[in-house]
Amino acid sequence: MKILFFTGKGGVGKSTMAAASAWQLSQKSRVLIVSLDPAHNLGDIFGTVIKDGKAKFTDTLYLSEVNLRKLSREYLQKEIDVLSSTYRYLQVLNLDNYFSILKYSPGIEEYALLTSIEKTIRDETDFDYIIFDTPPTGLTLRFLALPKVTITWIDRLIGIRRQILEKRYTIHRIRGTLSSEETVLDYKEEDDDILKRLWKLSDNYQTLNRTLCGSDCNVILVFNPDILSLRESQRLVEGLDDLGLPLRLLINNKVTEANEEMAGYVEKQMKGMAQDVPLERVHLSKTLLDGREGTLYDVPEGIIPDSW
Ligand SMILES: Nc1ncnc2c1ncn2[C@@H]1O[C@H](COP(=O)(O)OP(=O)(O)OP(=O)(O)O)[C@@H](O)[C@H]1O
Ligand SMILES: [Mg+2]
Repeated sequence: MKILFFTGKGGVGKSTMAAASAWQLSQKSRVLIVSLDPAHNLGDIFGTVIKDGKAKFTDTLYLSEVNLRKLSREYLQKEIDVLSSTYRYLQVLNLDNYFSILKYSPGIEEYALLTSIEKTIRDETDFDYIIFDTPPTGLTLRFLALPKVTITWIDRLIGIRRQILEKRYTIHRIRGTLSSEETVLDYKEEDDDILKRLWKLSDNYQTLNRTLCGSDCNVILVFNPDILSLRESQRLVEGLDDLGLPLRLLINNKVTEANEEMAGYVEKQMKGMAQDVPLERVHLSKTLLDGREGTLYDVPEGIIPDSW
């Protein structure tokens, strides 16, 4: 299964190009297109209504819109449940109160999105392609960076937890056998619930990171022939490079006769940063993906290279 992420500055045409690519690929393969943008327009683009998050458009093309608010709530609730059961002995601190403000903490949306990407990749194995239409650059880079950042943090936490267990072990040896009424806190690594959970989390994020940096993952960068879009795209290329994420296609969208010279300049600059990445030029179209009849018209051909 191949995974495609369409990224780029706000309004450059990510959703449109993602939809056109999904349409192109669905002529020969089974495709699921997933909108991760809180401001969804996938249903509008295809001229249909996506009920309950997922809809069949044709036999080989399925559309899905992620409900970020619901996802964030579910993500937080799951974490609260796990933490509450892991830290049973801390109930006196009234964790529930503490968690009720957690929903406002930064990063929850990014983690929720990442969890949804991971789940989609794990569950939707029927499809040959999963296409993710992402929100504008900032949020996208942040959630794509999360696996690496999280692995680093979990490693630190594993180190701290091990120190705690070592101290417990020392205390256990000094004190000798405990009376039957005393609470025994685990001091062996293999018995410790918190360490087990940290190992599991670390495993999950390592797997996800391998998938995102692997040969079946393709980040596609959409930009327009203008300087603001060029600058943001350049930052995005640097960001992807830092994270080891595979940029595989550049799309210069909305080219017209009037901006042709600028289009050439922007393409040259982008090729300067990503020499080996293929580049497609897509012209501004008057009837592109006109969903009025629930059908697609005038979809640009051949956005996705045949070799994919
Ligand atoms: N090649 C094109 N020809 C004509 N119109 C286009 C083309 N590409 C995109 N558009 C139009 O540009 C607008 C923005 O496109 P789109 O919604 O796909 O951008 P986006 O990058 O997904 O935006 P956002 O960041 O808000 O999610 C839409 O009205 C879309 O129809
Ligand atoms: Mg969009």
